[in-house]
Amino acid sequence: MSTDVATEIGDLTVPQHVAIIMDGNGRWARQRMRPRTMGHAAGLEVLREIIRAGLELNIGFLTFFGFSTENWNRPADEVSFLIDLLRRYLQREVVKLHEQGVRLRFIGNRDRFDDDIRALLVNAEQLTRQNTALNVTIALSYGGREEIVSAARRLAEAAVRGDIAVDEIDETRFEAALFTASLPAPDLLIRTSGEKRLSNFLLWQTAYTEFVFTDVLWPDFSAEHLQQAVAEFGSRDRRFGGIIG
Ligand code: IPE
Ligand code: IPE
Ligand code: MG
Repeated sequence: MSTDVATEIGDLTVPQHVAIIMDGNGRWARQRMRPRTMGHAAGLEVLREIIRAGLELNIGFLTFFGFSTENWNRPADEVSFLIDLLRRYLQREVVKLHEQGVRLRFIGNRDRFDDDIRALLVNAEQLTRQNTALNVTIALSYGGREEIVSAARRLAEAAVRGDIAVDEIDETRFEAALFTASLPAPDLLIRTSGEKRLSNFLLWQTAYTEFVFTDVLWPDFSAEHLQQAVAEFGSRDRRFGGIIG
């Protein structure tokens, strides 16, 4: 394993970038005969715990799928609960994350959020931009297809303006036009709740990512589960199209 994508901590080979699809909040609540919103509130607590665990494990980048482009189609009361949860999280949590040395980034289409949320997102990114202990990225109103289309559009516009030649459009330039321009590709992607699909998350970026699927519902996910996934990652043989060597 090359050291640029992983570091050794004790017996663990720790991936540089872990992406997580936090799924199963609704089913967790239903198991308890509670409204789905309870599951989302419980899921937010777990987000805190996993960020703490990421700091302890010395993971460089943690990227969370918080809300997809398609999630806007959920019932209006669930969407507004999630937006309120996000608002309160940003109001309360950003300073604490800053104190822990976390750099926050948000990826996705911000146009659908109210002005106050957009301002909170910008403030969080500005406040934490010098931090280096852990890079936390939260995907909000994010869709991988939309991201790819908007990158293509930006490059097409640059070509029409004459800023770049069509021949100059390559993978490096394309990557630089994605929301994730400043992030390395994820080494490990974890999805909770037993679903085995990407649901439009990081379509371009996961070309060579290792996937770990767990049946654990997100509100039950813990630092130990993260460690187990990291251990599983360490046992994988990444070949990137090469041969076993
Ligand atoms: C993930 O949990 C959180 C969001 C998508 C916002 P779900 O709300 O998808 O929970 P399930 O999949 O219905 O159990
Ligand atoms: C993906 O989960 C989005 C997030 C976890 C934020 P969904 O619950 O929306 O995905 P599907 O509908 O099961 O594919
Ligand atoms: Mg779900």
